Amino acid sequence: MEPDLHTLAYFSRNAIDGPDGLKQAEIEKILATARANNSKLNVTGALLVSGGCFAQVLEGPLEAVETLFEQIECDPRHRNVTILHFKPAATRNFGDWAMAYAGDRAEARAETGSGVDLEGLFAHPGLIEGEQAGRDIVRVMSDLIHRTERAQI
Ligand SMILES: Cc1cc2nc3c(=O)[nH]c(=O)nc-3n(C[C@H](O)[C@H](O)[C@H](O)COP(=O)(O)O)c2cc1C
Repeated sequence: MEPDLHTLAYFSRNAIDGPDGLKQAEIEKILATARANNSKLNVTGALLVSGGCFAQVLEGPLEAVETLFEQIECDPRHRNVTILHFKPAATRNFGDWAMAYAGDRAEARAETGSGVDLEGLFAHPGLIEGEQAGRDIVRVMSDLIHRTERAQI
């Protein structure tokens, strides 16, 4: 039991420019930084990169999550950062990952049967609102990460 545990999920538009190889390299950099920093902060989570969008879940002590998010929010590599969910949590969904990674849109599409349309979210993030939707996003990302072999510590 972690009394201070909070989960934050957001959605943003990828603003990384350039050829695919460079974009991928930039994402690798983000993951390397995230994994190094988040471990120190006792923050775990997942990053979903899909075409022109990011979705990320951060979970950890309230202050660490807030401070980290404020920093991430200002990163010029994305824009239109929209919080989908920010709540106290009983348990971690990504306890094994400083920052898990899922990078394929097809897998997000395959998840639509489970109640949340991630494709729809990417197209119309404004439509995702309310507590249930926020929780669903975290759950869908969790399912996705736990099923993708590319998820790693
Ligand atoms: C989509 C996205 C997700 C990010 N996620 C994290 C993260 O989980 N942890 C982190 O430390 N930095 C993350 N960053 C990078 C931060 O914005 C920032 O560059 C970094 O924290 C700076 O760390 P440094 O001072 O150690 O270089 C992310 C950036 C982007 C664009």
